[in-house]
Amino acid sequence: MRIGILTSGGDCPGLNAVIRGAVIKGDRIHGQTFLGIKDGWRGLVEDDIVPLPRHDVRGLSRQGGTILGTSRTNPFDGGGAEQVRTVMTHHEMDAVIAIGGEGTLTAARRLSDEGINIVGVPKTIDNDLSATDYTFGFDTAVAIATESIDRLRTTAESHHRCMVVEVMGRHVGWIALHAGLAAGAHAILVPEVPQSLEQVGEWVRSARDRGRAPVVVVAEGFSLAGEEHVVAPRGLDAFGRPRLGGIGERLGPMLEELTGIETRCATLGHLQRGGVPSAYDRVLATRFGTAAIDAVVDKKWGTMVSLSGTDVVTVDLHDATTKLKTVPRARYDEAAILFG
Ligand code: F6P
Repeated sequence: MRIGILTSGGDCPGLNAVIRGAVIKGDRIHGQTFLGIKDGWRGLVEDDIVPLPRHDVRGLSRQGGTILGTSRTNPFDGGGAEQVRTVMTHHEMDAVIAIGGEGTLTAARRLSDEGINIVGVPKTIDNDLSATDYTFGFDTAVAIATESIDRLRTTAESHHRCMVVEVMGRHVGWIALHAGLAAGAHAILVPEVPQSLEQVGEWVRSARDRGRAPVVVVAEGFSLAGEEHVVAPRGLDAFGRPRLGGIGERLGPMLEELTGIETRCATLGHLQRGGVPSAYDRVLATRFGTAAIDAVVDKKWGTMVSLSGTDVVTVDLHDATTKLKTVPRARYDEAAILFG
């Protein structure tokens, strides 16, 4: 069997570990041949495909990024299933393993509906896919954000300042919630739960009154209560201009004015997606890679591998792409007891 692998959408620590797990298992157990599709769907519709022999994946589980490259190309803007079928036939490719987030998996589902042999592997640092308990990349992103907040706290304490830390999460606040909890933030702000400026100011003042340097962790998709909730296009602000400052940069001066406490903001941005994956993410990604091979061998087209408890299972791509996994109110309230 000849199998193409692609990584699509925003990159994420652990992508290379999936590729390695799939290629080693497929080569060793089933004698399969692998093809590397460059830059996600772009490579599949534009026929940018290279051999992916086993020796090319050596040592990959600890390497960040993706050796295949990635893009946010939608295959339906480039010929759709017909073009994909033509390219696959040209390479005698029997199946595609598509590693990606919500957009990638939605495209994979549509292609599968049109008869393309596809198995999906979920990835996102945001951990917002409802059909899997965890996605690899999340653990690494939370660890990087936590360490960054710890570091920002010591400088804030030295200067008696408040620190606003913006983390990733356009639609959901999982990174903010987990990193904020781990680092002992005095307020955590997530897109799912709008808060008023006055409430955030109260938490900041309360921390200061106890002699602490207030730390506010805010997810990039958070909006203040009463403000229109706008999810800006990637790389652009809500008005379509190059994104210079997000919610963190806006919130810092507002809090400073309200509380009179000198405030600085740090936006962690793509630091959260870079570098080596954590041990947890390497293990999960490797398991997803080997499980994707099982799904291919069993011809489970139109499915996605997923973590259920501690087991790796397969789920229908239709169920995997219907709704985002948001932070439940009870989980937020559990953390909010510790604010201020
Ligand atoms: O979806 C993952 C994610 O990292 C989001 O948290 C973030 O908003 C977005 O990707 C950033 O995308 P880009 O790398 O295209 O700027």
